[in-house]
Amino acid sequence: MINIPVLTIDGPSGSGKGTVAQLIAKDLGWHYLDSGALYRVLAQASIKHGFELGDETSVSTLAQNLDVVFSVKNDELEVLLEGQNVSTLIRSEQAGNAASKVAALALVRNALLERQRDFRQLPGLVTDGRDMGTVVFPDAPYKIFLNASAEVRAQRRHKQLKEKGIRSNISVLITEISERDERDYNRSVAPLRPAADAIQLDSTSLGIENVFDRVRAILR
Ligand code: DC
Repeated sequence: MINIPVLTIDGPSGSGKGTVAQLIAKDLGWHYLDSGALYRVLAQASIKHGFELGDETSVSTLAQNLDVVFSVKNDELEVLLEGQNVSTLIRSEQAGNAASKVAALALVRNALLERQRDFRQLPGLVTDGRDMGTVVFPDAPYKIFLNASAEVRAQRRHKQLKEKGIRSNISVLITEISERDERDYNRSVAPLRPAADAIQLDSTSLGIENVFDRVRAILR
């Protein structure tokens, strides 16, 4: 395990980490784990099964047995929950907020730990999230923490949602993103933090190609 390289890209919502992580994984031919998708699917599964998002016992039991399959189709992540395609459903801002609520529960994070570590397969893994460099893969040789201003992140989110056919409003998005940041940064378990050995990048005024080039240079 320890010899299998991992690149972790952590950061807040809309920092560009998911896009860059997917591009780098494709470029290197490495596996890719979108850990946020796991929390998003779990939140949807909890709603589907009628559980309160703060019900730690029920949601963590569900997390242990979560029937989810990830695959990449035409460069897009396809997500099946209990056989149902939820790829679009989990991308709304409400789904992100619900994910952030179940992600604040310690037993839930514990239940998903091994599932995430199982993605570490040869020739390597690129993964993005909030605690990839601090908790899930603390021994990863390459760690990036990507940030950007809240306004720019909201604009990017707006564009991304539009491309997926999901309607949104910039000022509502800024409020929702700020609420989510607040919860992710301040929770008691695995809060959003750069790992001590992470390289910090700010993508506020950088295009995705520039961020990609910088990360590629770091890997070299
Ligand atoms: O990366 P994302 O926006 O898809 O993540 C959705 C939520 O899931 C995010 O607000 C917090 C939670 N999350 C987490 O707590 N830890 C991770 N490694 C990834 C996501």
